[in-house]
Amino acid sequence: MYSTLALTLLAMPLAFAQSSTTNPPLSTLLPQIDAAPSLTPTIYDNSAPDPQRCPGYKASGLTNTSSGFTADLTIAGADCAAFGNDIADLVLEVVYQTKERLNLKVYPKYLSESNITRYTLSPDLVPQPQWDGKTSASSSDLTLKWSNDPSFQFEVSRSSDGEVLFSTYGNVMVYEDQFIEIKTSMVKNYTIYGLAENAHDFLLGDNYTQTFYAVDAGNSIDYNSYGTHPFYQETRYHNGAPTTSHGVYARNAHGQEWLLRDESVTYRTLGGSFDMYFLSGQKSDGSSSALQTITQYQTGCVGTPAMQQFWTYGFHQLRWGYQNISIMEGVVQGYKDANIPLECLWNDLDIYDNYQDFTDASLTFPAGPFRAWIESLHANNMYYVPIIDSNIYVPDPNNASDAYPPYSRGAALGTYIRDPSTGQFYIGDGWPGFSVWADWLVPTSQQWWTNETSSYHEIIPFDGIWIDLSEASSFCVGSCGNGRTTENPVHPPFTLPGDVLTFDYNYPEGFNVSNATEASLAASAASSQASAVSANPPLPAATTTTQGRTTPTPGVRNLDFPPYVINNVQAGHALVKGAIAPTATHNDPSNTTEYEMHNLFGLQISNATYNALLEIFPGRRPFTVGRSTFASSGRTTSHWGGDNTSTWGSMFLSISQAFTMMMAGIPMFGADTCGFAHNTDYELCSRWMELSAFFPFYRNHNVKAAISQEAYRWSSVAEASRRAMSVRYSLLNYMYTLFYHAHTSGDTVMRALAWEFPEDQTLAGTYAQFLLGPSLLVTPVLEPNVDYVKGVFPGIGQGTRWYDWYTLDEVTGVQPQENVTMSAPLEHINVHVRGGAILPLQEPTLTTTATRNSSYSILVALDGQGAASGDLYLDDGYSLVPNATKIVTFSYSDSCLKTSINGTYHSTPPLANITIAGVGKAPCGLSLTIAGQECEVGAVVLSHLNETVSITGLEAFTGEGAWQGEMELILQY
Ligand code: GLC
Repeated sequence: MYSTLALTLLAMPLAFAQSSTTNPPLSTLLPQIDAAPSLTPTIYDNSAPDPQRCPGYKASGLTNTSSGFTADLTIAGADCAAFGNDIADLVLEVVYQTKERLNLKVYPKYLSESNITRYTLSPDLVPQPQWDGKTSASSSDLTLKWSNDPSFQFEVSRSSDGEVLFSTYGNVMVYEDQFIEIKTSMVKNYTIYGLAENAHDFLLGDNYTQTFYAVDAGNSIDYNSYGTHPFYQETRYHNGAPTTSHGVYARNAHGQEWLLRDESVTYRTLGGSFDMYFLSGQKSDGSSSALQTITQYQTGCVGTPAMQQFWTYGFHQLRWGYQNISIMEGVVQGYKDANIPLECLWNDLDIYDNYQDFTDASLTFPAGPFRAWIESLHANNMYYVPIIDSNIYVPDPNNASDAYPPYSRGAALGTYIRDPSTGQFYIGDGWPGFSVWADWLVPTSQQWWTNETSSYHEIIPFDGIWIDLSEASSFCVGSCGNGRTTENPVHPPFTLPGDVLTFDYNYPEGFNVSNATEASLAASAASSQASAVSANPPLPAATTTTQGRTTPTPGVRNLDFPPYVINNVQAGHALVKGAIAPTATHNDPSNTTEYEMHNLFGLQISNATYNALLEIFPGRRPFTVGRSTFASSGRTTSHWGGDNTSTWGSMFLSISQAFTMMMAGIPMFGADTCGFAHNTDYELCSRWMELSAFFPFYRNHNVKAAISQEAYRWSSVAEASRRAMSVRYSLLNYMYTLFYHAHTSGDTVMRALAWEFPEDQTLAGTYAQFLLGPSLLVTPVLEPNVDYVKGVFPGIGQGTRWYDWYTLDEVTGVQPQENVTMSAPLEHINVHVRGGAILPLQEPTLTTTATRNSSYSILVALDGQGAASGDLYLDDGYSLVPNATKIVTFSYSDSCLKTSINGTYHSTPPLANITIAGVGKAPCGLSLTIAGQECEVGAVVLSHLNETVSITGLEAFTGEGAWQGEMELILQY
């Protein structure tokens, strides 16, 4: 859902405001039941105990193994019961898993002890990194030392120079059944990044708490969000000596917090084990880097991201409120008339009967015409993706006409999560009313899900699946549907778009300057609405009770209200709010509770959907986009940033969010372009369409009751989109090749300037600019009412050359670190090509299919040595295991461009042009050899203008396909 925190902020077009309004139906799940105790988060609770006063542990019985050592840890004093019941006996395991990765595990020694947390994350759910069978302490990049004085403490350092990376010296380890804590000292003003998912500055800072508890709350700036990726990367600058980098991954899925404080980081979870991975960030030459650390995380810990189908890099259009097929047809026509590329159409809940997955809204989306319409998309090389919500509607058992077979089939298999108080299914609430959720630990759940999705595909021939509400979100507290399913379909306990008094009159910052009259009309309409709401509230106000922190009780674990209160963004900060309750149980032999599993639902449903898509499209890469993710989700799923707002701030934060998702190994990421909640305006939408054109996943989406925001709605947005998309579509092969490297080697797709230019400390926090791969610098406009933008050209003055994408003029006369003012008219986004890059391009067209069939060109941007290199990965664009692939490697030096070719995939379009930027002196001729044959180049046109060499007319030699024979082109002087 869009943020329940922002329910009153729904948007309606001013012109249509007050038109289609209805009152909530009588059968409404009243908000009282939605009430949750209001707790004080422990980090703000001055009366909370300090766990660092606990006694810690003593290590004994050390046993060396071939990969490290093990020891016993025994509590070193009286229980302190800080936020749980202390566990006296633990096991410590240290494994030098690979040269660059060290693992430290601590878990309870006696797994049979009752009422202690004994949940360690199963390798079936989240990959468990393993020893490589050869590394030992002596061959590792990392060294672990420990001491028992005054209690067990350890330190991880870099073996080569002794730099301390993580140290609990001076701090105690706390291990209780509902709380574990480890605290590391940090260098002053440390620079750490990551801990996705968050909406926060890229550089996390040393006064920040990252809470992890998957939550259905959009734009939750500085709080917990949809995903949990307990991995950070730290960079250390050394005043001129090479910058160093390392990483820490804590494999634990419980609700948790990372307290970033002055000179320390404290890691706290609500249970589970310590399963810490320290990554050296080092390459074979001993140097370390952020990019290498991220690679180590992906290749060694969570797995590299899925390779996506080529078409998924096209432009996607969605909105909540596409209420019938003819509206969808209108959208397709709108894009066509405006000559703006459109690859994929999406639908939100509008296609379903009363929000129930897999049904059809028979009046507005009758199955036959709907199917025919999707087939017409396919015939035009376009694609279709529908939403599937994570909750499954429970039909009214007394009403035969309310039958809902997807539920019944799952119920027959016992597929759903259970309510321990009744032993029956746990019944929460979603858009359609009282609902259940799949328990993915039940082996038959996959089969049921595959069956539901594939049966749906037989009717609606979709090309991918959008999984929503996978936190998993529930709109009431507890199993609120117990005994009440006869009330279904019950209305959610809050007003919906289209209900009375829910219009949103919010517009982006700066709208009052660019659209003063409309802004003032909106302001007065908003204030009348606010008065009307307070005079006559559409629903009774939710009541909340106030409850303090629970205290640890021997033999008892309070799962719904654990003694440690995380700073959950939900009202009352309670875990029971907005999600399946922590006490709900799974059907595995241990009856694992949601307390342990909550952060994993999104990963599990995405994996199940991936598997289902593999059945539906055998051999084809599944395209699934999910909302909640966990460490390792990138292996199966893509992700969008959730419910942002149509604000400049939200657009800006999408860049830092993207960086963290790149780190997390989910590079197929994008934000709801032009903003989800609130009304956008032409200026914000123009800038956002430009910006997102350089994000891997490019989708425009907004909330039901907001004004329409397709790219063709305003002439400026249309023009901005056409221009930015023509850059994107030219570069589809570059993007695809970046994904190939991400998939095969854990390379990063969108990159922070700090990652590519690690020696420049001034870039440590920069996210107003970014790089796509190593070679394209993007400088978007992120504020209203300006026609310029400021940005730096990293590396300039130290040998890096930059060229304007559009003119290929080299950037000159710029000082290192200078904040340069660039012209940025509304329809223009600044993009610069890094000297040293060779980019394979194709003609931009209206679909990726047509672009893939258009002729190639090569852009060479010379570096300071007059050299450049690059590569191109080719395959059929959709097979999981392609029959044939090809890698073309480009190199340029001494006026000679060479290609070398590996693989047999045949791409038919010819090579038409080669452009070489940064060539000071005009060549007088050229020679060309293809596949060892010297070509007669009489018809080739060679020109030199503004330091750029253009070579056209190469099709004559490459008609069999651009990359059929290795090429050597020499400029003659
Ligand atoms: C959630 C999704 C949003 C979707 C809405 C209705 O808020 O995040 O994208 O439009 O639900 O399904």
